[in-house]
Amino acid sequence: MNVGIDAISVATAHYRLPLPALAEATGVDPNKYTIGLGQQHFSVPAPDEDTVTMAADAVAQLIGRTGTDEVRSIFFATESSVDQSKAAGVFLHGLLGLPEHVRTVEFKEACYGGTAALQCALALVARNPEERVIVVASDVARYAIDSPGEPTQGAGAVAMMVSASPRIMAIEQKTGVYTKDVNDFWRPNDSSTPFVLGHLSMDAYLDAFTGAWDDFAARNPGVKSTDFARFVHHQPFQKMARKAHRQLMSYTGDGRGDEIIEAGLHYSAQVGNCYTAALYWGIVSLLTHDSGLAGERIGLFSYGSGAVSEFFVGRPAARYAEHVDGAAIDATLASREKIDFSTYRALHEERHVDSRDYATPHVTGAPYRFAGVKDHARRYERNKRVA
Ligand code: COA
Repeated sequence: MNVGIDAISVATAHYRLPLPALAEATGVDPNKYTIGLGQQHFSVPAPDEDTVTMAADAVAQLIGRTGTDEVRSIFFATESSVDQSKAAGVFLHGLLGLPEHVRTVEFKEACYGGTAALQCALALVARNPEERVIVVASDVARYAIDSPGEPTQGAGAVAMMVSASPRIMAIEQKTGVYTKDVNDFWRPNDSSTPFVLGHLSMDAYLDAFTGAWDDFAARNPGVKSTDFARFVHHQPFQKMARKAHRQLMSYTGDGRGDEIIEAGLHYSAQVGNCYTAALYWGIVSLLTHDSGLAGERIGLFSYGSGAVSEFFVGRPAARYAEHVDGAAIDATLASREKIDFSTYRALHEERHVDSRDYATPHVTGAPYRFAGVKDHARRYERNKRVA
């Protein structure tokens, strides 16, 4: 039985900052960001946007195509959660008026959380192929100002309908997994930005890649990297995926170059790091920029700092290209409002971190918005300015 991704949709934030603007204002050579990291822009949320509003945008598009019949679970993956207790998916559930008879849970393990949610969804559908699961990964990557991570910020969400007989991509059952306790990334409760050992995290990522690959190879005797037509790697920034690719090619003796990862790299350079959603933006990028992959095996690598990783395999369905709309995604990215450096820095500073009442200004053009905190509850609403 095939189980996998039957529909997929994306959303991002209201604003975009071009990386050269950040570089010029901070006295850095713009080539460091555009060539050295491979990034062009990052998305910046408006004050009335967060992980829930982006997820709501993506899921609303998704269920507009698939409906919600037989959806029994909603899995929300994030590492920039809005509540230490309640699952972000429950806010989403209320906002979209989703069916009552569902289990709604949040998944967390840094950027790996989206893959954890997807694998659990696949297992549930394999157990009962009548059921469907909504998986949504949504994050705001926000680093301290003037830190090395600042140019790798970003914001975005990817929603997937997981079902039997998927119309976009089946996911194979056998995967390779790897966990190693590494202190490369820490976001403690008293800080809204993480403490990151960036170069350690890059080494941990590459180590976790070969670790997951070795486990995958042990469970699939005789497998070769040349069995895969394309690879999509977790992409906190474009260069990281290129480094991962080079590592795998040299580790396995595969002589192929970046041409087999290129189609999966377009969107991450435009939205920035989307943490749990980053790999899935890469998958959407591959499927919208390469229409000749039906029936091929695609190697997928997921990494979350801390560190957990997984190598797994997707097989695009016969008519997948009819079910992904690259033109609509390009239009969404182009519709973001471009901001300058000082506007971006003001937005970065403005973030509320306490539990007092406040109301957000009405800015976002997305279909759902975060209205603020009132009486110890986060308030979300449909955006009345959007038809
Ligand atoms: N022109 C072109 N390239 C340039 C350049 C210039 N003027 N200046 C530097 N570069 C290149 C560097 O050579 C390097 O490329 P390489 O790794 O291929 O050699 C790249 O730009 C980055 O430079 P580096 O000095 O390593 O950057 P940094 O130390 O300031 O920060 C990270 C890089 C990744 C550590 C930082 O962005 C970070 O902490 N990010 C968050 C954590 C993260 O995403 N980790 C990834 C795994 S999850």
